[in-house]
Order: sequence, then C-alpha cells, then structure tokens
Amino acid sequence: MRIGTTLTHYIIRNQREIEGASGTFTGLLNDICVACKKIAALVDKGALVNVLGSAESENVQGEEQKKLDVISNEIMIEALEHNGHIAALASEEMEGIHPMSAERRGRYLLLCDPLDGSSNIDVNVSVGTIFSILRAPDDTKAPTEADFLRPGVEQVAAGYCLYGPSTMMVLTTGNGVSMFTLDRDFGEFLLTRENVSIPDETREFAINASNRRFWDEPIQRYIEECLAGEEGPRGKNFNMRWVASMVAEVHRILTRGGVFMYPCDKRIRAQGKTGKLRLMYEANPMAMIVEQAGGAATTGMQRILEVDPDELHQRVPVILGSRKEVERVTAYHD
Ligand code: AHG
Ligand code: MN
Ligand code: MN
Repeated sequence: MRIGTTLTHYIIRNQREIEGASGTFTGLLNDICVACKKIAALVDKGALVNVLGSAESENVQGEEQKKLDVISNEIMIEALEHNGHIAALASEEMEGIHPMSAERRGRYLLLCDPLDGSSNIDVNVSVGTIFSILRAPDDTKAPTEADFLRPGVEQVAAGYCLYGPSTMMVLTTGNGVSMFTLDRDFGEFLLTRENVSIPDETREFAINASNRRFWDEPIQRYIEECLAGEEGPRGKNFNMRWVASMVAEVHRILTRGGVFMYPCDKRIRAQGKTGKLRLMYEANPMAMIVEQAGGAATTGMQRILEVDPDELHQRVPVILGSRKEVERVTAYHD
C-alpha cells in the first residue's frame, strides 16, 4: 500500500482479507486509535496536565500504579464502551474482565496493557500501549473470564502504540506487520513502513543484567557467550540495550534486529511467580507481531503463542526477537 495511507483506509482494505470480518473490526481498531491518540496527547503534555507520578494505589498484581496507568485504563474503557465493537475488555489494571452491556455487546474481546513501561513515565522515556484482539465466543452470551483464556495463536490481531519521539502504531492482522506514524498536525496515523522483517541474526541483546545472579543456567550461558565477544565462542562483539519499556525494546528489534529477554529466575520463583511479563496482554501480542515479522518468541521451553493460559494475569518467561538467536537460547534450554 502507498506510504502515507491513513490507518483507517489501511484497515478497511485489510478487513476484506480477514475471514468473517465486518465493519466491526474496522470500528474496533478505530476505537483503539482514538484511545491511543488521547494517551499520546497526555504523555506529550506530561507535567503540564499533572499526569506524572504515583496514583498512590496498587493494581491486582501488587504493583504500584502510576497516575497515567489509571488514566490510560480509563481512556481505553471510555473509547470502547459505547461503540458495540467488543463484548468485554481485560486489562493489566483491572482484576476481572470489564463486560459491555447486552445492547452494546460486540464480536471481539480486547486485552490490553494500557501503559507499558510506566516506570519510565516520570523520567520522560518512551512508554506504550499493547493490545491483543480475540474473537468473542458467540454474540448472544455475556462473556466470562474463561472466554479470554485462549492461546495466542487464536489472536485475530495484535499491536502496540509507542509514545516516543514520534507516536507510532504498529499492527498485525496476521498478514505481516505495518507501522504508522501519528501526524499531529491533522491527527491521523499514516503508514510509514510495511512488511517489517527482523534480521535472523543480531549483535544486540536486551536483558536487565542486574538480575544476573538469579538467572538459570541457559540464560547465564547465552549472555556470557555474548559478553565474551570476538574472543568467545560467538566470534563477534555484542552490544547491549535495556530501556525497561517492552514496547520500546520490541520496536528497536523490529527496526534493526536483536533479542529481548525477561526470563523467569530464582528471585521471581521465590516470590511464587512464573515470570515477570504477562502472557495475555504483553507476551502474546508481542509474540504475534515478532513472528509476523519473521522473528521468534518462546518461553525457553515452548512457543509463546501456544501456551494454554490458566488465568488472565498469568506471567511467562519471554525470549523474543531475531530467529537464530532465539533458537540458540532455546537450544540451551534443551
Ligand atoms: P508495566 O509498566 O506495564 O508494568 O511493564 C513493565 C515491564 C516491561 O515493559 C519491561 O520490559 C519490564 O517490565 C521492566 O522490568 P524491570 O524494571 O525489572 O527492568
Ligand atoms: Mn507492561
Ligand atoms: Mn502497564
């Protein structure tokens, strides 16, 4: 499609290729864009509109909520509640699902991380919104939490909006990955890159190295070999990055390759958890995007998109990015 095409036009064109999709799907993506534009405007204004800092509350997972976590969640609900495109919404910031009223019940289920990387908001570093779209089981029944517990392979679409130097929407409907940049002058996302492809090999990795002493053997080995550089078994020097916003990390990998890891480790296990990142609204949508761009995404033991979820806020280890690197880390787990 032509560079500069509006996201709305792109979605309408794309919808024709999705089996069973109607105007509802276009409407849903449009609602998400509206929400993301509102969040982008607030992120942009920051301290001028008093959205920085803590909300003095905790989410269901016992993590501190920032003001902008709470506000972004409200913006998502508001954008989706009235238009009849979804049957229910689930979010990092809400314990249970948020069902729509019977007369406003649409054909899709939406899962989202309204504000990813929220520890970065107060220091003016990139944050984002991540979303995953599933089909609702049927049009008549009120959805339950169990309806959301589908493996990532069943996602109809996934995407994220990155609030960085530019605001960008990155989207897949299962037919490649496209990137759109927000033109603030007239308030539209315009296509700036199509058929995104992650290089198979890389010289760049991203991991929070402060957790090194807790890592399991396969991760220790992979990182040690990268750090050994030209003299080590890899025979080349590696570079390291850690933004602490998964959205920014995945965006870098889609742009120039690399591997991103948030493994489970001894410290996480001691807290009774199975990982740091959440399967349904962080790992699954990012895994779909990365696979659609030719990369790979695994827990180390299993393809992320094939994990059968037990609960809405389930956590998983995440290793994703350039295919050959992900395969190498996986092989170290065997
Ligand atoms: P969120 O702000 O939605 O809770 O997600 C933050 C996530 C992810 O984006 C990032 O990769 C990771 O947490 C950072 O974790 P550390 O602070 O442990 O590095
Ligand atoms: Mn997140
Ligand atoms: Mn979040």
